[in-house]
Amino acid sequence: MKRVAVITSGGDAPGMNTAIRAVVREAIYTGFDVLGIQHGYAGLLENQIIPLNTRSVSGIVNLGGTMLKTSRCQAIKTEAGIIKAVEILKSHCIDGIIGIGGDGSLCALERISRHGINGISIPASIDNDVFGTDETIGFDTATDTAIDAIDKIRDTAQSHERIFIVEVMGREHGFLALQIGIAAGAEFVLVPEIKYNIKKVCEELKKEVKKGKTSIIIIFAEGVGDPFVFSKEVQKATNLEVRVTALGYIQRGGSPSARSRVLASLFGSHAVKIFEKGKKNRLVVLKNGRISDVPYSQVIGKEKKINMELYGLIRHLAV
Ligand code: F6P
Repeated sequence: MKRVAVITSGGDAPGMNTAIRAVVREAIYTGFDVLGIQHGYAGLLENQIIPLNTRSVSGIVNLGGTMLKTSRCQAIKTEAGIIKAVEILKSHCIDGIIGIGGDGSLCALERISRHGINGISIPASIDNDVFGTDETIGFDTATDTAIDAIDKIRDTAQSHERIFIVEVMGREHGFLALQIGIAAGAEFVLVPEIKYNIKKVCEELKKEVKKGKTSIIIIFAEGVGDPFVFSKEVQKATNLEVRVTALGYIQRGGSPSARSRVLASLFGSHAVKIFEKGKKNRLVVLKNGRISDVPYSQVIGKEKKINMELYGLIRHLAV
C-alpha cells in the first residue's frame, strides 16, 4: 500500500485545513495510507509524524489555520536539513509528500524530491505569489477580510473627511494589495514592486481633493516601507488630515471563503491523483479556470509579475 504524508509550512492561510481534509480523504478513498507531519519542516526534522484517518479531518473544512500547525524553518534550507528530512521520511516508508504552502514550501519540496521521495506541492499563501498558478489558497479569503475592514474605515474617512492609509500584508509582492485595492475602490495602491514617488503621489492627491473628493483610501503593502513615515509626508505636502490603519494578521485568519474552500478541495484531490498516476515532483496549479499541474522545472526560481493592467485600473476607477 502506497503511503503519503501531508505537511503545511510557511505562513498559514485560510483554506489550508480544507486542503488537508481533501488530501486525507482522497488518499484514503484511493487506498493509500496517510500520515500527517506536524509543525511544518521543523516538525519533520523532529520526527513529529502522526497517522491520519478520515475522522482526523472531521469538522475542519470551515476552519482557518492548519490543524497540523506550521513553521518557518531555516534548517530545511540547508543540504544537511534536506538529507535529514529524507532519512526521516524514508524511515516511515513514505513514498510521497504533499506540501501545502507558499514559495518556501515549494522550494523545500523540490529539494526533497531530488532524493527519491515524490514531492507534490499545493500553493497556499494569502500573498498569491507562487509562480505558475493564477491563484493560491487563502488569497480570496484574505481579500474578503481586508475589504470588510476597509469598508468600515471608509465610513469614518468620509465622516471626518480624511485620507486613510491602510497597510496590508505582502512583504515582497503586491498581488494582495492590488486585489484589495480594486475590490475596496481605493484611490491609490502602493506595491513593493513599483517604487513610489512621494511628490507625484501628493500631486495626484491634491488633484483628487480639487475634484471635490473629501476622503481617500490608500492601500499600502507592508513591503513598501513605513506607512507612518509615508503619512507624515502626505500630511505635510497636502495639509490634509491623514490616518493610518495596519490590518496585520487578521488577514491570515478566519473561516475560508467558499472560493478558497473549493480551490483547496480541488487542489488537494488533484495532488493525490497526480501521485496515484505516478507523476512526480509537480506543482498543482489553477490556470485559466482549470486545475492542472506543472513540473518543478517550470516554476522553481521564477518570480510572478504584477499585472500592470490591473495596477493601472486603480487610477482609471478613481477619476
Ligand atoms: O504568508 C505570507 C505573509 O503573511 C506575508 O504577507 C507577510 O509579510 C508574512 O507572511 C509575515 O510572516 P510571519 O507570519 O512570519 O510574521
